[in-house]
Amino acid sequence: MKIENKDYRTIWFDEANQLVKIIDQTKLPHQFIIKDLKTVKDAVNAIKIMEVRGAPLIGGTAAYGIVLAIKENKDPNFIQKSSEELIQSRPTAINLKWAVDRMLNKLSGINSNEVLNIALKEAKDICDEDEKFCENIGLNGLKIIEGIYNKTKKTVNILTHCNAGWLATINWGTATSPIYHAHKKGIPVHVWVDETRPRNQGANLTSYELNEEGIANTIIADNTGGILMQRGDVDMCIVGTDRTLSTGDVCNKIGTYLKALAAHDNNVPFYVALPSSTIDWDIKNFKDIPIEERNSEELSHIEGIDQDNKLKKILIYPKKSKAMNLAFDVTPAKYVTGLITEKGISDASTEGLKKLFK
Ligand code: MRU
Repeated sequence: MKIENKDYRTIWFDEANQLVKIIDQTKLPHQFIIKDLKTVKDAVNAIKIMEVRGAPLIGGTAAYGIVLAIKENKDPNFIQKSSEELIQSRPTAINLKWAVDRMLNKLSGINSNEVLNIALKEAKDICDEDEKFCENIGLNGLKIIEGIYNKTKKTVNILTHCNAGWLATINWGTATSPIYHAHKKGIPVHVWVDETRPRNQGANLTSYELNEEGIANTIIADNTGGILMQRGDVDMCIVGTDRTLSTGDVCNKIGTYLKALAAHDNNVPFYVALPSSTIDWDIKNFKDIPIEERNSEELSHIEGIDQDNKLKKILIYPKKSKAMNLAFDVTPAKYVTGLITEKGISDASTEGLKKLFK
């Protein structure tokens, strides 16, 4: 998608310099910086400090991380250790493990002369596939937006949480892909963007990328969605997910659950958009999902630009106060209207998912 009218993907391989390029998302929207990843440690670090984030994108970065590891040292012990470091770089999104396992499966039994080329092709395939899946999610979700528009003939108001936009994937996004497709088709859409404290991915990333594509949007505090739904100002919610169980329970950015409860109480359809790489077919009880707990400084401090356009971080809490920073929560399947996937829309249930993914 576009930044200042130029098309980008979030990650790509620079053939000339034989390294990986990413957009540093910790600096957006105030600074647009492209960074080089030269070693597997760079990839692990980029995921950990969230220069890249969003479930599908950290999966793509982990795949390229394996490529960088092979470039450094083809010793199987080194590759194994690097794989573990990549998987452990963030705990909640299943895409990390999914991508590393897929890379290792592809490479098993390959001789050392060929291993780098095959790894590079597989990492590119993972990213190309994610882009295609997200595009299909958009075409499937478009039908829902179109259905609402055909009934009301008014701007369709969509609420989203966090950033499940193209910046969280390789391209298109998951939750935003139906919105981009609707906009391209001429359907008037407006997006309520949850700010998404503490890291403000909604304000800093979702609103930013929608602005760049010319899509009307309004940032709201995370607590505002409820009253907007009571007033009839939200036609539907679409969010992304970091791990969806085969039961249909959806783990996503903290605060998603409260939005789903408000949507349920107000009969607002609540959709979750995801590629199949985000489905966890193993865990059955949502309480077993590892929930990331991040540094409380993300809550107690806030970053922005001052009058001189300089990035500054300031403390906003009392110095002596403790804070707790859980990054994800789980929305039980009963509050999810449907799962929008690359293969179609399914009920949030084992039966629904099994019909699509045999
Ligand atoms: O902590 P983040 O910014 O990586 O969290 C991202 C989200 O929760 C997204 O909604 C999710 O990864 C879906 S991405 C298409």
